[in-house]
Amino acid sequence: MKYRFAVEKEDYTDFASGRVLYSAPGTTGFPVRLASEIIQRAFAILSEQGQRGPYTIYDPCCGGGFLLATIGFLFPERVAELIASDVDGQALEIARKNLSLLTPEGLAARRRELEGFALAFGKESHQGALSSLERLQDLLGKRRIPFRCDLRDITDLGPFPVQDVDIIITDIPYGQLASWRGEGADPLDRLFANCRRALHSQGVLVVVANKGPKLLHSAFERREHFRLGKRQIAFFQPRQQ
Ligand SMILES: C[S@@+](CC[C@H](N)C(=O)[O-])C[C@H]1O[C@@H](n2cnc3c(N)ncnc32)[C@H](O)[C@@H]1O
Repeated sequence: MKYRFAVEKEDYTDFASGRVLYSAPGTTGFPVRLASEIIQRAFAILSEQGQRGPYTIYDPCCGGGFLLATIGFLFPERVAELIASDVDGQALEIARKNLSLLTPEGLAARRRELEGFALAFGKESHQGALSSLERLQDLLGKRRIPFRCDLRDITDLGPFPVQDVDIIITDIPYGQLASWRGEGADPLDRLFANCRRALHSQGVLVVVANKGPKLLHSAFERREHFRLGKRQIAFFQPRQQ
């Protein structure tokens, strides 16, 4: 895969999981350069169709919210709202903390926490994290990105409360750290079905998976597909009736 947008290899230390962004056992991070490339491709598909944003972005398997928080810091001016859901309540609590960093109060609370650690333990790593926090603050400026976090099994085909989303981006369970939970023999098919309900008719769905699953669904036209290392990434738009 050739990078089209995140062309330069940058130092993303400020985004490291557990530094300013929160981490917890069982939650996974996501490569920042790849997140940047993927979301810019999704923005490009929408912009080319006259949809210039800012966009509502939803991750239905959000884990600790690392992917959404990263997008919020990198492209705050392009985000109208972030919606996160996961079947795992503990992971969702981490997501809530991470997405709260995209607000002035959340960042201020994290600064106080890191200052407390720096005072108590005198470790260089906490000073480094405080420097990272200042740089993340510069990226965000005075913006406050609205977000919501909901406990939801994306394989549940009951009533679906999220609608009219511009972009769904999701890193589905790979079966090592995070496995599929919930109903039904074909969770991926159910994820596609629910994503179709959440997305508006010209929105973009991006699915990140390991090499295993076939990323195709009858409700969606596949617009782009590429592989990078152990991952495959596919971009879809709803099939017009
Ligand atoms: C690879 S992780 C996602 C990591 C996330 N992108 C991040 O940046 O932190 C996959 C997530 O899917 C969640 N998951 C598994 N089954 C699910 C289901 N049925 N509905 C919603 N989420 C589910 C797991 O709890 C896990 O948090």
